[in-house]
Parts: sequence; C-alpha cells; structure tokens
Amino acid sequence: MLDTVVLISGGGSNLKALLTAAEQPDSPFRVVAVAADNFCDGLCHAADHGVPSFVVSPKDHSGSRAAWGEALAAGIREYGVNASNGLVVSAGFMRILPPNFIAEFSPRLINTHPALLPNFPGAHAVRDALAAGATETGVTVHVIDEGVDTGPIIAQHAVPVLEGDSEEELHERIKTVERQLLVNVVKDIATGKQPLPPQP
Ligand code: GRF
Repeated sequence: MLDTVVLISGGGSNLKALLTAAEQPDSPFRVVAVAADNFCDGLCHAADHGVPSFVVSPKDHSGSRAAWGEALAAGIREYGVNASNGLVVSAGFMRILPPNFIAEFSPRLINTHPALLPNFPGAHAVRDALAAGATETGVTVHVIDEGVDTGPIIAQHAVPVLEGDSEEELHERIKTVERQLLVNVVKDIATGKQPLPPQP
C-alpha cells in the first residue's frame, strides 16, 4: 500500500478524484493526509473523506522559504511519508516548492500541470496556450525537480483547443482528463508499473 500526501491550494477537484479512487477496495494507494498553503476550499474534501489535513503558510515563516519547506516536510513526515516509502502529490498546489523540500522528497514527489510540457510551464498554462493560438494542449504528470515544471515527464494526455474556447472552458476540459490521468499515474506508481527515476 502506497501512502500519499496531497498538496493543494484551491478547489481540490484532483484531490477529490484521488480520495475517491483511494476508497475503492482494490486501491493500491491511500491518502494519509492533505496539506495546503492556505485555508482553501479543497480542504473540505479531506474532511468529507475522513482524511486529516494541515495548512502551512509561507506567511507564517518570516519570509524564509527554507523554514516554510521544513515545516511542510515535518508535517508530512508525521504521517510516515518519506523519501523511501511514500509519495507526495502536488495537485493544484500553486507555489514553487523550496530546494530543501525537493531534495528531501524528489523523485517521490510529483506534480500535475495543465499543459503538454515542455510547452506552457508556469502558473498560467491554459491562458498561455490560448494566447499562443495552440490547437492542442493537455496535461502532464511529472516528477518535481528544482525548475518550474521541468522535471522528468511520467505521463501526458492531449486535449484539443476548440474554436472560441474561454480559459475556463478549456481548463475544465483539461481537468476532466487530468483527474483520470493523475489517478492512473498514482496507481501505477503504487503497483510498480510506473518506475520513478533514481534520486538525483
Ligand atoms: C489543475 O488544473 C492543476 O494542474 C493546476 O490547477 C488546477 C487545480 O485544480 N495547477 P483543482 O484544485 O484540483 O480543482
């Protein structure tokens, strides 16, 4: 059984998909905790599924990214998830993780991103794809390294951009695909079907 901690910042629909999948009797993973950088709406999904959650805000760490990273890592360690046995899933976590956190958990630290990386990295991937006139975008699940959405790619799925798509419409279509891809990747990591790259 793979123990996972999910990191969120917003509505948490990817988190909800993971929590629902984890409750299936044959699930090879479980969500042992949810962590957020703010008191966001998505935390209600953790409560609904009886999973503990905690908030570690950078604002409470006097501007030190390393101190924030250590506080977040300490919260995760409390649930027995570490670099050798668990998985940390950034699912709509809208902050760049600090180097000390990445060094501790990567490659057992993955992110989902709403574009076909290496295209459109960063916080506005859907808007950027529309602005570039892309006819296709999608979703990428990748290992987090110290760059912004640069780590080794685990899985991708394309989504067409439709004529007249708004950012919200396109993002919702991407998220429908994203939730399924993320659940499948976590299952595959749990069963060993999806190997993770060696620690850098
Ligand atoms: C997802 O598309 C994620 O890739 C992006 O923000 C969205 C979060 O959605 N970074 P949700 O909070 O899981 O509903």
